[in-house]
Amino acid sequence: MVRHLLRDDDLTPDQQAEVLDLADAMKADRYGHRPLEGPRPVAVLFDKPSTRTRLSFEAGIAQLGGHPLIVDARSSQMGRGETVGDTARMLSRFVDAVVWRTGDQSRIEEMAAAATVPVVNALTDQFHPCQVLADLQTIRERFGRLAGLTLTYLGDGANNMAHSLLLGGATAGLHVRICAPEGFQPDAGILRDGKNRAADTGGSVDLVADPQAAVEGADVLVTDTWVSMGQEEDGLDRTAPFRPLQVNAQLLERAAEGAIVLHCLPAHRGDEITDEVLDGPRSAVWDEAENRLHAQKALLAWLLRQP
Ligand code: CP
Ligand code: NVA
Repeated sequence: MVRHLLRDDDLTPDQQAEVLDLADAMKADRYGHRPLEGPRPVAVLFDKPSTRTRLSFEAGIAQLGGHPLIVDARSSQMGRGETVGDTARMLSRFVDAVVWRTGDQSRIEEMAAAATVPVVNALTDQFHPCQVLADLQTIRERFGRLAGLTLTYLGDGANNMAHSLLLGGATAGLHVRICAPEGFQPDAGILRDGKNRAADTGGSVDLVADPQAAVEGADVLVTDTWVSMGQEEDGLDRTAPFRPLQVNAQLLERAAEGAIVLHCLPAHRGDEITDEVLDGPRSAVWDEAENRLHAQKALLAWLLRQP
């Protein structure tokens, strides 16, 4: 059976832990794991801009002994209307895996349904599971564990990071608090899936409206842009309702002693996070960015070694 990573709960808790262990091994020996020797080609397609995802996949696939094929999908025939299904069938004849950053989740589901090789979600409007694997790796290396820690996300609760953190966090047994302005709450179905997963792992997922209460005693604070890619013209006020959620020194004071701060980047300094926090001693964002490389290498290796 071909395995895909389309959303965070595609990995069971055991599988997630296995990938994170492998990510630590990849980090400890960056050039010593070469499961894509051949070189086996992997297509990495982008319908939206990217810096970290593109470069970490390109570097990581090369380090695994493989050959990255990076494509701006808008300049391919997909940009002229070739169907997702036809693209998936064709790509499956060329490459050993397909990594794709696109818009609606239904598109990557369509890709996976027609592909005969693993498909990896490199960000959709709804999920960013590669980022959350890197986030979990970062949290685990700072605290030595995941289950039982409290993670508070402050920002757009309906965006890809909020959804992936609540699903991936629940899978890891974290207590996830989502603090979002009214009208920017997580998708009800995804929230239900997160709560169900948390019931299996001993974690929890809660919506907490008040930012002060949401960060009280939290071990990890996470924020993200208030305006995700594609939302620039959605006509919603993405500034005023979000201002009280800014991760600044005052808010950070209410978190647990030893709390860390994550941001998937790119950051909008002065909006969702201040310079003081992003550049301060509690910030783990550069380790988090680096871990994209290791977590994604581990994920590809894991997906490709499945029977
Ligand atoms: N965090 C992240 O996915 O960054 P890019 O958009 O630069 O890939
Ligand atoms: N929520 C952001 C994440 C960027 C990596 C976006 O979708 O633009």
